[in-house]
Amino acid sequence: MKNILDNPGLKASPEWEEATAEANIANPLLQNNSILKQILDFGRWAPSGDNMQPWRFKLIDENHFDILASDTRDHCVYDLQGNASQLSIGMLIENMVIGAASLDKTLDYELDPDSTDEHPVIHVKIASTQPENNHAHLADSIILRTVNRRPLSKEKITDEHKQKIEEAASPLKIKWFEGKEIKKTTRLFFDAAGIRLSIAEAFPTHASIMEWNKPYSRDKMPVGSLGMSAMGTKMMKACLKDWRIVNFLNTFMAGTYLPRLELDVLPGLSSGAHFILIDDKVNESVSDFIEAGRLVQRFWIRLTSLGIQLQPQMTPLIFANYHRQSINFTSNKKQLKATEKLANKYKELIDGEDCGKTVFVGRIGYGDIADYRSTRLDLKDLLVE
Ligand SMILES: Cc1cc2nc3c(=O)[nH]c(=O)nc-3n(C[C@H](O)[C@H](O)[C@H](O)COP(=O)(O)O)c2cc1C
Repeated sequence: MKNILDNPGLKASPEWEEATAEANIANPLLQNNSILKQILDFGRWAPSGDNMQPWRFKLIDENHFDILASDTRDHCVYDLQGNASQLSIGMLIENMVIGAASLDKTLDYELDPDSTDEHPVIHVKIASTQPENNHAHLADSIILRTVNRRPLSKEKITDEHKQKIEEAASPLKIKWFEGKEIKKTTRLFFDAAGIRLSIAEAFPTHASIMEWNKPYSRDKMPVGSLGMSAMGTKMMKACLKDWRIVNFLNTFMAGTYLPRLELDVLPGLSSGAHFILIDDKVNESVSDFIEAGRLVQRFWIRLTSLGIQLQPQMTPLIFANYHRQSINFTSNKKQLKATEKLANKYKELIDGEDCGKTVFVGRIGYGDIADYRSTRLDLKDLLVE
């Protein structure tokens, strides 16, 4: 493939063209679709929490560049220790490694030991050696991978597909929830959403990440990607103008029920399987989360290549981990109590395992690629001097 955007699986539409049109880049290292440019392009299609893209690139020469990351702990209640951002950085690196392999290149990378946890710097070198055990065949699926929050097919994931998915995620282990168990995990999603929608600390994030008017967004999430009804969308738009409206509706009118039904319960029940990805140790350092993120991304792209859609459902894991580490992420006492209950239920689901070993939670199912999706910032906007 000459250019990642030439992927034949993409739907041609004027909006898609507009959302992905490449701006002219003056940098000489990125001319003529250079290897460096192609690798950066593979990378920037990585997913990140709420499409925040917590990375920038500093180019050194045709074979060297730095990834300058900034986690979102100062403004996002879901990332208070930077772990969601660190997973995303791993996902970015995995995209680049797979993309490089498809160009017969290897990537060597090293986390700068002098960089801080909040602003990790990763030095990357493009080498011309043939990669071993590479996953180059997944490169075409990188841009087709997108979150799908809509109801998915309830058809069981075949054993053959499960085996392929497990191989891609290895050494992470996958705990599957299927059939009747899906009700139990959907209940967990419902409980976590109750916390998410009731705490003032989450409001600034919710209020700033939506693109209301377009099917694609370069730095936000198009509202259509949430899959809500027209009424639900209207209500959400009105609520996200002012926390006091949300608080009033939550207190007096059970305001969290409609969004929880539409965003969590109905899609949750309409899935082929739910899953939790488990590492063999409790992840603690930035490198731990980056390496876990690489495996999660390989798992997600493998699903895409098999025609299986995925929606992360990360809040149960995030809140359970805040409870495990005694992190007071909200001043809302009632919701802290609810978090304790949620953490206990979560622990039960993973058979008493340490929830610190769990790195990703979500739902999957056969289905079409989402037609409303986030695109990405232009490469020129991701470059720093
Ligand atoms: C670490 C991480 C956590 C995420 N958590 C959620 C989540 O809890 N719920 C959800 O619907 N999407 C979640 N997402 C999906 C992102 O919102 C999505 O990847 C991003 O908006 C970019 O869209 P795309 O994946 O379609 O390219 C998460 C993604 C990452 C990388």
